[in-house]
Amino acid sequence: MRVDAKDMGADLQQVLITKEEIDAKLAELAAKIDAEYAGKDLLIVGVLKGAVMVMADLARALSTPVTMDWMAVSSYGAGTQSSGVVRILKDLDTDIKGRHVLIVEDIIDSGLTLSWLINNLGSREPESLKICTLLRKPDAAKVAIDVEWVGFDIPNEFVVGYGLDYAEKYRNLPFVGTLAPHVYGG
Ligand code: XMP
Ligand code: MG
Repeated sequence: MRVDAKDMGADLQQVLITKEEIDAKLAELAAKIDAEYAGKDLLIVGVLKGAVMVMADLARALSTPVTMDWMAVSSYGAGTQSSGVVRILKDLDTDIKGRHVLIVEDIIDSGLTLSWLINNLGSREPESLKICTLLRKPDAAKVAIDVEWVGFDIPNEFVVGYGLDYAEKYRNLPFVGTLAPHVYGG
């Protein structure tokens, strides 16, 4: 199902992934994650702020009882490009040593932020550390990351909605869409 851009306001160009497609994909991923962690104690870690929606919906799609924790990181770099130099703005409240940890991400772009996060959390000696992301841009990858569960591979375009923002706007859209070029000066 495609929603016409006119229905979304002039700032949005196209709906890339509908709410229905997101819901179906999260149910599919949740079934696989349930199978992987059956009988285990799972901590899911969301990366603020973008992963809020996917954490909330994935957590409710899971049958496995989980605990949830959050990290906020800032990625320094020139302009909007991620540099891989990361500062922790909010650390986990949980000691993850010996725990099964699943990082839940909204999007993997260059992969630099996540690569740093994997090293950082990995050094805390979790029993296991895996990744689930709703979106991934294969053409933007600068580092190879082993991602267990990917919702959708998407083109290398700036997307908003379902947690993702442009200048803090559009996070509450229930779908993922592309932004009209005039919004970001294109
Ligand atoms: P890297 O490049 O380190 O960056 O993988 C990951 C973070 O950058 C943000 N990001 C986006 N945010 N639309 C957004 O709203 C996008 O198309 C986009 N691409 C990357 C996001 O916060 C992600 O965690
Ligand atoms: Mg993010």
